[in-house]
Amino acid sequence: MKLAIIGTGYVGLVTGACFAELGHQVLCVDNDTAKVELLRSGGLPIYEPGLEGIVARNVQAGRLAFSSEIADAVAQAEVIFIAVPTPPLPDGSVDLSFIEGVAREIAAHLTAYRIVVDKSTVPVKTGEKVAETIRRYSKARVEFDVVSNPEFLREGFAVEDLMRPDRIVIGVQSPRPVLAMREIYAPLEAPMVVTDINSAELIKHAANSFLALKISYINAVAALCEASGANVQEVANGIGLDQRIGRRFLDAGIGFGGSCFPKDLSAFIKIAETLGYDFRLLKEVQQINAQQMDRFLRKIADTLWVIKDKRLGVLGLAFKQNTDDVRMSPAIELCRRLLAEGARLRVHDPRAMAKARALLPPGPTVEYVDERDAVAEGCDALVIATEWPEFKELDLERARRALTHPILFDGRNLFDREEMERLGWVYKSVGR
Ligand code: UDX
Repeated sequence: MKLAIIGTGYVGLVTGACFAELGHQVLCVDNDTAKVELLRSGGLPIYEPGLEGIVARNVQAGRLAFSSEIADAVAQAEVIFIAVPTPPLPDGSVDLSFIEGVAREIAAHLTAYRIVVDKSTVPVKTGEKVAETIRRYSKARVEFDVVSNPEFLREGFAVEDLMRPDRIVIGVQSPRPVLAMREIYAPLEAPMVVTDINSAELIKHAANSFLALKISYINAVAALCEASGANVQEVANGIGLDQRIGRRFLDAGIGFGGSCFPKDLSAFIKIAETLGYDFRLLKEVQQINAQQMDRFLRKIADTLWVIKDKRLGVLGLAFKQNTDDVRMSPAIELCRRLLAEGARLRVHDPRAMAKARALLPPGPTVEYVDERDAVAEGCDALVIATEWPEFKELDLERARRALTHPILFDGRNLFDREEMERLGWVYKSVGR
């Protein structure tokens, strides 16, 4: 089928490239002409494992192209996906101005039946407003359908999550677009939930908030484990084997971040408020997440006594493993808090150092270290802030020799506590 994706960010570009990989003819549109030029010249504006090969292969095969004109999308594609940002506003509500702008521009170019699919994460009842907007701004009495098709892509695993989804969610106002949506996703052979638009939109916020709740729950249990001498990883394994609970998203750490969970949680609380419900449970999920960082910093202060003028090696800047994204990164927040206490940092991240430079103060208080095993040189302690699997391969012997004292704060429980203590480390982690 002929498809168009408007917005070439983490969601739009991955979705467009993978749709092409499935055999569809795809046009990816972005109003950032520099980004379009970069894509046309074979570059990628984001890092996602596997994405570079998929884009190159499908551009080569003529199934994937790029444009900065929405008019091209409306002219060429039967189904137009909206995948533009829906950033948070200061009061926690969602900025839908990009969605509204794209809907108006699609309407202005509509001359034949089109299916307009909202893939961006939007508050419930947005689909109705998109339909109203297209009706209001389209010239002729042209027919169209609006569909909600929320994405469940994890950054760092986006290609995998799109090509092997647990489910596809489709929200429609009429049965007409269902066939086309089934055809688009047919090669994936994944279960498809076909429901109304409001339910589809609510599924997205409800899913992300539940995942965030799981993480805050295990972080709260981690506090009890620390107070009782239990091991939160053992507890997570023990409860996670219950099929009704599941082991994933039960990894205690320094809290969740990223461009989705914090934003979607605030949005869901705000949406509930406008619908007349005070979602106190989710407010507590936010509280626990904020306290998790405080608890970890207190652990560092209790062990080092004075943080001021200490030199600390920080491993990890991205908000999670497998990504270069530093938006709302707990690792960046940790660096900022340590700098505010007067520490000097030597930092390393396999992918995110370039983007982190824009968020950390320039000058001598932060040194960027390309080689992971060199971070410890001249430092008083090491901190692990992001769960990059390669940090488990850290040369501990070299680090011990390089540090003034063998002290490691493991914010993502990457190492085995007993093993580290046997090796003579002062080892502090979360919930163990
Ligand atoms: C999330 C949802 O998983 C995805 O379905 C949705 O489409 C977008 O938002 P993402 O934000 O990319 O994806 O990352 P995710 O893997 O969910 O991790 C979010 C944060 O939670 C990261 O900071 C991660 O470090 C943290 N996390 C995750 C934990 O602290 N513990 C866990 O067990 C899992």
